[in-house]
Amino acid sequence: MTLSELFHSLTSQLQELYSRQESESLIIWLFEEYLGKSRRDISNNIALDSLPIELENAFNELLEGKPIQYVTGKAPFYGREFLVNSSVLIPRNETEELVHLILKENKKSGIRILDIGTGSGCIPITLALEITGSEVFALDISEEALSVASQNAKSLDAKVVFQKCDFLNEEIPFKNLDIIVSNPPYVRISEKEMMHANVLKYEPHLALFVQDDDPLLFYRHIAQKCKNALNPNGRLYFEINEVLGSSTSDLLTDNGFKEIRILKDLNNRDRMVSAVLR
Ligand SMILES: C[S@@+](CC[C@H](N)C(=O)[O-])C[C@H]1O[C@@H](n2cnc3c(N)ncnc32)[C@H](O)[C@@H]1O
Repeated sequence: MTLSELFHSLTSQLQELYSRQESESLIIWLFEEYLGKSRRDISNNIALDSLPIELENAFNELLEGKPIQYVTGKAPFYGREFLVNSSVLIPRNETEELVHLILKENKKSGIRILDIGTGSGCIPITLALEITGSEVFALDISEEALSVASQNAKSLDAKVVFQKCDFLNEEIPFKNLDIIVSNPPYVRISEKEMMHANVLKYEPHLALFVQDDDPLLFYRHIAQKCKNALNPNGRLYFEINEVLGSSTSDLLTDNGFKEIRILKDLNNRDRMVSAVLR
């Protein structure tokens, strides 16, 4: 069998679940990971002696609907590769946009930053690597997530202090911070039915969901607790549920923040909020 024949056979099987374009991209991702071959190699009529068992297993997992990042155990974020497993959320493009915003607006070296609900550690590790001399801290309730985040910091050579903390029941264990960033759970249980089956089946529900009657639970805790932890004029940066921009903004106004902005992502949806402590 040639690489091209294999590509067409796998792509057409995967179209039971994904569009043609998505299926092609996913198979190329597998080829790069397990065969070291790129899209360009497919047209070169390369003969394959046998199909590596790792590729076959990975393809079967994809066919079951497992996200490719959990199949390969890796996800790209802001130009770097992060380890992921079922204990952490797969880093999203919107979160890269949030990190980009923070980097654009905070060029001073030596600032102190805390990430609340760190998951894979994609946010604090990227900030620690991109902002010279920054001191970066990160919290999560999940020991499994913290273990993944620590492995990522080690393999990417980033200095981040990780600490286990149930943020809803504990105070912020760090002081004199210049920035607090968070992409906390914000999907309402009632939104479950609109979500892709793959997300529901494979991604950690602890990372995703909040009760319908209190969707801003995490944002309220952060807005209230951060006053003792942020420096004067310290900044908050949130990723938000696109339908909750104005209520998040109201919450921050009620808690004494100024310069509150609701910002759109590349898809023109309200996905970020930033504010400054008075
Ligand atoms: C939406 S995920 C964000 C993960 C990562 N920051 C990202 O952007 O990919 C939310 C994270 O909050 C954590 N979390 C949930 N409840 C928490 C709590 N009570 N205290 C601290 N962290 C919590 C979850 O374990 C999860 O890693």
